[in-house]
Amino acid sequence: MASGKVDPSTPSRVQGSSASTNLGSRIAPDEIHEREKQTASSVRPPTQRHLNPFVITERSEEKQLGITARQLSVRDFILLKTLGTGTFARVWLAKLRDEKAKPDKVYALKILRKADVIKLKQVEHVRNERRTLADVSGHPFITTFLASFSDNQSLYMLLDYCPGGEIFSYLRRSRRFSENTSRFYAAEITMIIEFLHDVEGVVYRDLKPENILIDADGHIKLVDFGFAKQIGDRETYTLCGTPEYLAPEVIHNSGHGLAVDWWALGILIYEFLVGQPPFWDQNPMRIYEQIVEGRIRYPQSMSPAAQNIISLLCKTSPTERLGYISGGSARVKSHPFYTDINWDDLYYRRVKGPIVPRVDHPADTGNFEEYPDPDPRTQSLYTDDMRSKYEALFSDF
Ligand SMILES: Nc1ncnc2c1ncn2[C@@H]1O[C@H](COP(=O)(O)OP(=O)(O)OP(=O)(O)O)[C@@H](O)[C@H]1O
Ligand SMILES: [Mg+2]
Repeated sequence: MASGKVDPSTPSRVQGSSASTNLGSRIAPDEIHEREKQTASSVRPPTQRHLNPFVITERSEEKQLGITARQLSVRDFILLKTLGTGTFARVWLAKLRDEKAKPDKVYALKILRKADVIKLKQVEHVRNERRTLADVSGHPFITTFLASFSDNQSLYMLLDYCPGGEIFSYLRRSRRFSENTSRFYAAEITMIIEFLHDVEGVVYRDLKPENILIDADGHIKLVDFGFAKQIGDRETYTLCGTPEYLAPEVIHNSGHGLAVDWWALGILIYEFLVGQPPFWDQNPMRIYEQIVEGRIRYPQSMSPAAQNIISLLCKTSPTERLGYISGGSARVKSHPFYTDINWDDLYYRRVKGPIVPRVDHPADTGNFEEYPDPDPRTQSLYTDDMRSKYEALFSDF
């Protein structure tokens, strides 16, 4: 479905670096998992979510996740298998070379080559990704970001491995999801958006089935914060996202804000229930025309509650859009589509996911597609010229 990402990209800008990210620079490889366990219990309950987003964000250093781990190196890891690739990133299943550390523990290691990041004008996005992931890590439905590091050629983000694979694969295999399954995933995503917007002031901007993974218990883990940005109530202008999921105001390039994620949730619920997004064409320009027009056709089999929530989330005007209008996320959660959802049970993972993936051992990659290994001959080099211009911008890693 996705015809690839769009991102004409603004030139990168120097931004202030977040002091919180340098705190744990003395972590040893085998300490990573221990720290992760300690912090898992400190995940914020939903009741704490109504504070000023920027106040809470400042506390991220207390979580000690997403730290800059200067003495970690890619040589500390064995790269086992490619889990996924993007436009310029490759995510590997990896384990620590030191067998004593945690013999069964595997990680997902996202590697971005500095030269590609610069050539594709993604410096600012990568910085945003690292910073946002560090701030939001610890939420039950967001992939846990453990540490970052860098070397001469690449930037590295060490993440918890999520073995269930992409929701995209399950959706394509079963063609469409039942209303119950769709509701469960939509509800977890609603809680993620609520948290990102209300607590962190972060717009995610890349909601789509490829970026939603399933964990071993069948719950969601959102990955890929490549387009996420802390904006609070402000507007931003960079055209980025995936064509089928772009909100009309992004296409109009008239400035967009948090409301784009609610639009994308509407598109996602539609794709879950129907098996393809509501606006689709081979040619992205035709997709944009359809989006701006905003006319959605619903199959007769779709329940009135589902049709209604999609139509309210996919209001072409952001000021009329459910989630963004007064009442915010609480109003989304009280929509009749979610009548059967117990939000507390869901948040604390007291309910099992509708699809529990088959995971035979911790390093099982059976739920991921096969990818060819990277070809070292085609990899672009980070030159001295690039280094002198850009190296300071990567100092958070
Ligand atoms: N923590 C993880 N556990 C398991 N698989 C992962 C994890 N993180 C990412 N992946 C896999 O790797 C794929 C690509 O990762 P990600 O979406 O973060 O990169 P990308 O941002 O799309 O790349 P690019 O920015 O170059 O487009 C994901 O769709 C997923 O299949
Ligand atoms: Mg992705």
